[in-house]
Amino acid sequence: MDPETFEAVDRFIGETVASDDEALVAAVEAAAAAGLPEIQVSPPQGKLLHLLARSIGARRILEFGTLGGYSTIWLARALPPGGKLLSLEAKDSYAEVARASIERAGLGDLVEVRAGPALETLVALEDEGVEPFDFVFIDADKVNTPNYFAWSLNHVRPGALIVADNVVRGGSLADENSDDVSAEAQRRLHDLLAAEPRVEATTIQTVGSKGHDGFTLALIDG
Ligand code: SAH
Ligand code: DHB
Ligand code: MG
Repeated sequence: MDPETFEAVDRFIGETVASDDEALVAAVEAAAAAGLPEIQVSPPQGKLLHLLARSIGARRILEFGTLGGYSTIWLARALPPGGKLLSLEAKDSYAEVARASIERAGLGDLVEVRAGPALETLVALEDEGVEPFDFVFIDADKVNTPNYFAWSLNHVRPGALIVADNVVRGGSLADENSDDVSAEAQRRLHDLLAAEPRVEATTIQTVGSKGHDGFTLALIDG
């Protein structure tokens, strides 16, 4: 278990198959310059999100947690012309930084970033009669991951894919004695998934530039 090796492998992957282009590099730089935390998905993870969304032919994508728009750009690039990505971000200032980077990436027409706590935005979306999504990426406040999942389950099309980031967090997922509320929420997510007949799910733990963590993949029955 050597973090330097994990990072070197992520760098290798990033220099070969999953490289950031100019717009992605610019998005990371703009976020850092504006003082945003550097917690975006890694390039291999961003590429994975892109490939997953493309594999299912996603036309409508919902994202929880925009930060500086790095994962947003990877995901929006999977959309066909006329597709749509809605990304929810609690902080106004982060949303502003993200919008500029998304615009610079030429994706302004496909992407809407809505500022405000996601649970409140979900109520507004409900009132607006929002159309169902076919790909959801949950990556905001971890304690609400099960709530975002439950809402998403009722607002996706059959065959949709829901991905949740940061569910393993250094192994706290499997530590029943941990009183970390975020970890507890990830265990609740897994209980929910196991009991939900409309869903087939798995969780993959990962190592890399983001340490030991992992993501959950849930396919909604078609
Ligand atoms: N998906 C991004 C990283 C998101 S980091 C990427 O990989 O590029 C988590 C983000 O969720 C932060 O920007 C944080 O401000 C936001 N967030 C935290 N609580 C939130 C909430 N209640 N509603 C919406 N966004 C929230
Ligand atoms: C944090 C959030 C993330 O989405 C992530 O991938 C890593 C860390 C955080 O809030 O610390
Ligand atoms: Mg994350």
